[in-house]
Amino acid sequence: MNKVRKAVIPAAGLGTRVLPASKAMPKEMLPIVDKPAIQYIVEEAVNSGIEDILIITSRGKGIIEDHFDRMPELEARLLAAGKQDAYDEIVRLAHMANISYIRQVEIRGLGHAILCAKAFVGDEPFAVLYGDDVIISDQPVCRQLCEVYETYGKGVVGIQEVSEELVQKYCSMKLKPLEKERLYAISDMIEKPKPEEIFSHFAILGRCVLPPKIFQVLENTPAGAANEIQLTDAMRTLAQTEGILGVDFDGHRYDMGNKLGVMQAIIEAGLRHPEIGTAFREYLKDFAAML
Ligand code: UTP
Repeated sequence: MNKVRKAVIPAAGLGTRVLPASKAMPKEMLPIVDKPAIQYIVEEAVNSGIEDILIITSRGKGIIEDHFDRMPELEARLLAAGKQDAYDEIVRLAHMANISYIRQVEIRGLGHAILCAKAFVGDEPFAVLYGDDVIISDQPVCRQLCEVYETYGKGVVGIQEVSEELVQKYCSMKLKPLEKERLYAISDMIEKPKPEEIFSHFAILGRCVLPPKIFQVLENTPAGAANEIQLTDAMRTLAQTEGILGVDFDGHRYDMGNKLGVMQAIIEAGLRHPEIGTAFREYLKDFAAML
């Protein structure tokens, strides 16, 4: 079965739910302790065995490219000041993966953003990591999904059960459990369902691995919810025709396009942080005692 070598990170959205923070700075660059959200996502892809990454950007998102580029003046200054660890980290960042960029000229939805990756992907399966969904886990979630694709050769989505309120904001999966633990066969799905349209409380949370056939489907997918071309609508066609698999993944997902999600990501990453984790835990306990 085809190994998954490529990943697409859509990061062109307007981020209207985290304004004003996202007015002049992409929400994908919001810091989680000492790294921007998108760095966690690129690291997840790299730790999953992905070699080539395409980041979909748009106007005003150039600092994403700067973040993954070399910065000779800063590097020279760090070396001269004897800050070897910081230097190593900054250089490592620029060589982590083979990253390229393309602009989505009109912001017409996630499905439209993925269509911009058609030439990059070619005739291979590829992973999609939503640029504002950070997932903290022991085994990278992208790897959990790639393993299923590489075993079964079918599209795979990362799913978890969410509340009734959230399923209406995300999407809902029609599914049946398979013999393998945490694996489901998905036969239908719906984007932003009304209460009477909900199949289950399982929703896609920021990760999928898709066959190249998705491009042909996307090209024939009309605008859907919010008048945008929805990736879920194209995946629905795949689910109804050849079936899609769902992995109830192991990991905590944080929506960086949502104010509460940003705070929750900072708390977990802060507690896990090798430098400040212990002190932050003490602070948090003292603070919580006052609540
Ligand atoms: P979202 O729907 O969460 O992002 O898309 P958004 O459009 O920025 O949302 P609002 O304005 O806060 O409601 C999920 C991911 O897909 C990207 C976004 O940048 C985000 O990382 N995206 C979305 C695109 O690349 N292009 C689009 O047209 C829409």
